[in-house]
Parts: sequence; structure tokens; C-alpha cells
Amino acid sequence: MKRDLVTISDLSNAEIEEIFHLADTYLDEMGAGERAHQIRGRRSDAEGYLMTSLFYEPSTRTRFSFEAAMVRLGGNVLGTVDPVTSSAAKGESLADTVRVMQNYADVIVMRHPSEGAARAAAEYVEIPVINGGDGGHEHPTQTLCDLYTLYRENGFLRDLNVLLVGDLRNGRTVHSLVYGLARFGANIIPMPAKGFELPGEVTRRLQEEYHCRPYAKEELFGGTEDMPQIDVIYVAPGSSLHMSAIPPQQREDAAETGVNAARQPLAFDVCYVTRLQGERLSPGQKLGVDYPVIDTQFLRGKRYAETRVLHPLPRVNELGYDLDKDPRGLYFKQAAYGVPVRMALIAKLLDLDPFRTAERPPAAKIYSHRQGMPCGNARCITHHPSESKHLQPKFWLVKSSRMLARCCYCETDFEVRCYVDLSSRRIATDWDAAAALPASDVVLFASEKDALAAGFRPAQAEGARRPA
Ligand code: NCD
Repeated sequence: MKRDLVTISDLSNAEIEEIFHLADTYLDEMGAGERAHQIRGRRSDAEGYLMTSLFYEPSTRTRFSFEAAMVRLGGNVLGTVDPVTSSAAKGESLADTVRVMQNYADVIVMRHPSEGAARAAAEYVEIPVINGGDGGHEHPTQTLCDLYTLYRENGFLRDLNVLLVGDLRNGRTVHSLVYGLARFGANIIPMPAKGFELPGEVTRRLQEEYHCRPYAKEELFGGTEDMPQIDVIYVAPGSSLHMSAIPPQQREDAAETGVNAARQPLAFDVCYVTRLQGERLSPGQKLGVDYPVIDTQFLRGKRYAETRVLHPLPRVNELGYDLDKDPRGLYFKQAAYGVPVRMALIAKLLDLDPFRTAERPPAAKIYSHRQGMPCGNARCITHHPSESKHLQPKFWLVKSSRMLARCCYCETDFEVRCYVDLSSRRIATDWDAAAALPASDVVLFASEKDALAAGFRPAQAEGARRPA
């Protein structure tokens, strides 16, 4: 079944971690010496595969890092749909464009101004669709890069205090990110520009679906009077911050005595800055006055001593250039990680992961039939005289350059050249069709000769399959 990445919830936590581990492997093998966060060289894992990038909105990092990722994997790229020079300019629908493009490419990465465009495209085609940003909705691959940057720097995400700054209303990177952070146990502290707060829909989902609990900052932290722009802290499930919440009675006492009871000082592990999304403002909407600016001056206090500054880029005026040389500024590294992370994502969606250990997938079908092929390993327990009357050979299928059957006992692989569909008792070689059948209806054979010798009917001739 094809996989798409449209929202961050299309991936489980385990899958996100798998992508990170694969990205680590690419960096280990292809990292550029001292600049170990940059990928150099070319592999051949995606040889023969084509990616098309359909960008109906401007893009630098997302598009080029995807294209670099595909090329460094050994694949090729079909250039972008330029809304001016492609048929989009003639009014062609997205539905028509992607249905045509699936004839040319194996995977589509797209960016579109309408929310939900990537999900619609994914429904129109049978190849994987990756969302590189759909309007103000989500930007899940940016979130993979953001989380990966934190994972590389910190090794863990649980309990990190993440300050989100800027246009939280329209920033699609923020919307995907808050869900990702919550799922990995990081706490979310919005510091929006006035009028650009997180959409109600996002905060509702954070609480109802991701089980984050909103606390007033005074409930958790002392001495936050200097931070009027922060009201609420969304504490992720399992975070130790829940423990810091002052019980109501103690809070009353604290208010009376002016003592900040058990509250600890608020320190930020991460500051995620975003630009005003001018292109998403409705006509006449006031531009952000007092838009927060993060620079070394803003980050001078104790609470920012260890803060890592991330930004999906491009920056406009909200991120000081003085941070470029400050070790806390990680945004260029974050952009560089776009390549190994997207390589890992493409490899996963195209099922190319070259480092995958071929363990039996939990839902693997087990093929076992008394007339089917025996295990070809003479030392396998299935041939042992005392056991062979109890054990019937069992296999699961492993797809490599050939179709292999792996013995469930000794784990030796054997090429399977055909199978018999028991409903027709005919020999067949269409493995996609075999996958759709219940395993009990399929008998595996090492050769057609063996299947005929076992009394099954020859494969149906080509002509005979065609309807009259
Ligand atoms: C972001 C986007 O397009 O949403 N850019 C990116 O992909 N790195 C952020 C932005 O444009 O502000």
C-alpha cells in the first residue's frame, strides 16, 4: 500500500524515530568531514526512481533540499510546476496535473496555497505524495527537520521547554511542530505576535488529542513578570513539569505571603522563531506591529543561557543577524539537516531503506502447505527425523531483487519462482495478486516443474486470460 506524508500524524513516533536513525546513517556515511551536518556524494539506492516537485508557491529550502535528497540517493528529479509556465497558468486543475504527473514520476512532493491540497492530491494518485506545505495548514517535513535538529543536539525531546515566537496563527510549520513536540513530550510555550495567536482549532487538538494540559505560567514558574507576552504553557503528557504545578491551597498561601513556593525559574531550551506570514493575511488586515524580534539582546537573560534558536527560514526582520555567529543559533544546521532527513523520508516512502534489517514485519503472512516447497537447508530443524512429523515448513516472503521465501525456523532464503492459487489450482507468478490472497490459498514453489510434479495445473496462457 502506498504511503503519503500529508500531516505529521501520518507517521507514528516509531516511524519518525526510524527516519531519524536512517538520517543518522546517511550523515555517518556521507557527512562532509568537519561540516558533518552536510551531505556529500551520491548513493545508488534510488537509481531508476524519479521525483517530481510541484511547487505552486515559492520555496527555496524545501524544494532544493528535497531535490538534493533525491539526487544524492541516486534518483532523478523532474523540475517544478511553475504556475506561470506550466498548464497551471491555463487553469489546469490540481486533479488533472497530478494524475498526469503520476505517469512520469514515482513520488510527488508538492506545495500549494490551499489547505488540504496535498491530501486531495494523495487521493487522486497511486504514488506517494509528500506535503511540502499546504496553505496555512501543515508542513510536516519541516517538522521532521525541526525535531531532528533537537534530537541531534539533545538526544531527547521529553521535557524540553519550547518557546514559539511570531505568527503562530498562519505559520504552517508551527502547526505541525506543536503536534510533533507534544507527541515526544516537549512543553509548548506560545509567544505570539499580538493578534497572531495559535488557532483555536490547534490548541483544542493539543489538549483533546495530544493530552497537553494548559497551565497559567504562574502555576509553574516564579518571576515571570518580565514576560507579559506569555500567558499559557501547554505541558505535554508525561512531562515532569506537571509536578511543579502548585496545588490551589499552596498557591493562595504563596499569593498572600508573596513567596514563590515550589516554583522554579522558567528557562527555555528552544526558541522557535517564525516570520510574519504576510501572504496569508486577508486584504486590509493590519500588519504585525510590535512583532517580536529575537536577537542577542532578547536572549541576554539567564533563562536564555542554553536556548537553541531555530527558524524554518526565510527570515525577514524577526531574527537578528547577530545570532548567526552565536552558538545558540542553529537555523543553518537545521536547514542542512533537510537533506539527510528528506533522504530518509523518500527512502521510507519508496521502500528503499538500504540499511533496513530484514526482520519479519509483525503482520507478515506465513505460507505453509504440505504440498509446498520444503526448506532447502538440509540442516534445518524441519528435516530432522524426530521433528519432521510435527513441523511443516513455514515461510514468509522477502522482496529483494528476486522474490525470496525465508524459512521461519532456520531463516534461510530461497528463491520462489511461482505459486499456486488453490482456488483455481493453477500456477501463477503475479506476486501482487498473491499478496491479495489469504496465505492459506497460496502454495509456494521453487520452480514451475515442482508445482507441475505436485499435480497442479499449468499457468493460464496469456490469450486465455483475455475476456472473449
Ligand atoms: C516555511 C514555509 O514555507 O512554511 N519555509 C520553509 O519551508 N522552510 C516558513 C516560512 O515561509 O515562513
